Amino acid sequence: MSDLDRVLVAGTGPTSVQLAVMLKGVLGAVVGIAGRESGRSGAFFSALAASGRVLRVDVQNEQHRAAAGTCEVDEVFRGYGSVAGPWSTLVLSVTADAYTHVLDRLDRRVLGGVRCVVLVSPTFGSSSLVRNRLRAVAPDAEVISLSSYLGGTRWHDGAPSHHVLTAAVKKRLYVGSSRGRSANLDLLCEAHRRLGVDMVVMGSPVEAETRNISLYVHPALFMNEISLDAVFAASGPVKYVYKLVPEGPITPALVNDIVSQWREVGEVVAKLGLEGVNLLRFMVEDSYPVREESISRDDVERFEELPPIHQDYLVYVRYASLLVDPFSEPDADGRYFDFSAVPLRPVFRDGEGRWDVPRMPKEDYYRTKVIQGVARHLGVGCPTIDKLLARYERALTGAARARAGQPLSEAFEVKDFREDLDMICEEIAVAR
Ligand SMILES: NC(=O)c1ccc[n+]([C@@H]2O[C@H](COP(=O)([O-])OP(=O)(O)OC[C@H]3O[C@@H](n4cnc5c(N)ncnc54)[C@H](OP(=O)(O)O)[C@@H]3O)[C@@H](O)[C@H]2O)c1
Repeated sequence: MSDLDRVLVAGTGPTSVQLAVMLKGVLGAVVGIAGRESGRSGAFFSALAASGRVLRVDVQNEQHRAAAGTCEVDEVFRGYGSVAGPWSTLVLSVTADAYTHVLDRLDRRVLGGVRCVVLVSPTFGSSSLVRNRLRAVAPDAEVISLSSYLGGTRWHDGAPSHHVLTAAVKKRLYVGSSRGRSANLDLLCEAHRRLGVDMVVMGSPVEAETRNISLYVHPALFMNEISLDAVFAASGPVKYVYKLVPEGPITPALVNDIVSQWREVGEVVAKLGLEGVNLLRFMVEDSYPVREESISRDDVERFEELPPIHQDYLVYVRYASLLVDPFSEPDADGRYFDFSAVPLRPVFRDGEGRWDVPRMPKEDYYRTKVIQGVARHLGVGCPTIDKLLARYERALTGAARARAGQPLSEAFEVKDFREDLDMICEEIAVAR
């Protein structure tokens, strides 16, 4: 028996649209969709009402056709407090720093009836947080963590609506359940496999959470002077996340931060008795492949045993090899697809006129603070993470000062995320 018969999708972003279409199309579930009240969600809910509650997914590449489709959602809730049950599965497709927000606002009777919670894009410790939060209301609920969302999905016309475009589908995802193996886990894997994703089942949710590439690379890619300036000051020309200096932030020093931070996270993971990640394998096999001439199989296999300077070298080569898509077709001038041209998005005014920080690095700030907090709790030193966070908080404070007197979102506040961290650490202590 599975609990994926009545599924409430919490979140009103592009991922929620894709997931709702997948859950209805592949599993035939009854699907409800819920979101908080906000400027962005207002546009989404209006478009959904205008379409007769029909959601639509288009795909960019024919090879991802299985992800495309339409579905009529069965119920729509504006504001988590207005959700009425019963819902046997809750899919959290909000950002990882918003899980508590959602769980706290759902009616306790609704939450009490939930038998399975799926975390679509959690961070390290998210399942511990959710389990702790559910203990008083739904102590037997299964918690399933995916290592990440299944692909790359954005609004079809650039603004929130019922219509999205899935431009990429991941090759591989990791997934873990608090029950080990379960009917819910198997069905969820089946739904992802139908879209072409290779699903690797881990022993627990936290093991899946450690296999998220953003956790390892985003802090250094976003918390450096060049990226921070592009995000908070946006004074010069556009800079690109994945380009080398001067077009982007990547330098040997930044690469050293990535590798050092990977070692620090690895120590935390080892302290929890879990298996670490071979960073280079993760980069070239699970994310984007490079040519064998750039990085050999042997380099990938031996990566964890290599001297630190050799590890830095290989990660630098990896980024240099992906400036263009090495498997794209060159044009008549011999130019390959400009793969690394992902602009660093600057701070912006939201629907209510308040300054806000884009999801990257806002969500990465939360993720990195959680790792730092868990490392402290376990007595693991993390000087690189400390350095990156100090830089980010300096930039945040400076940006808030520069906009004194103007309306700012809470993303401009330096935070310790104490409440979430205490719950995560408490749960980790119970599990050990
Ligand atoms: N889209 C992708 O291709 C992709 C790829 C990889 C990973 N992911 C991850 O998947 C998750 C969802 O992505 P998405 O593109 O659907 O995201 P999104 O559009 O940025 O937001 C998803 C939902 O989260 C809500 N939310 C954000 N911050 C919140 C807060 N502080 N409190 C309450 N609700 C909050 C949003 O509400 P509002 O609209 O009201 O802000 C929205 O309903 C994210 O964690 C993202 O990093 C997405």
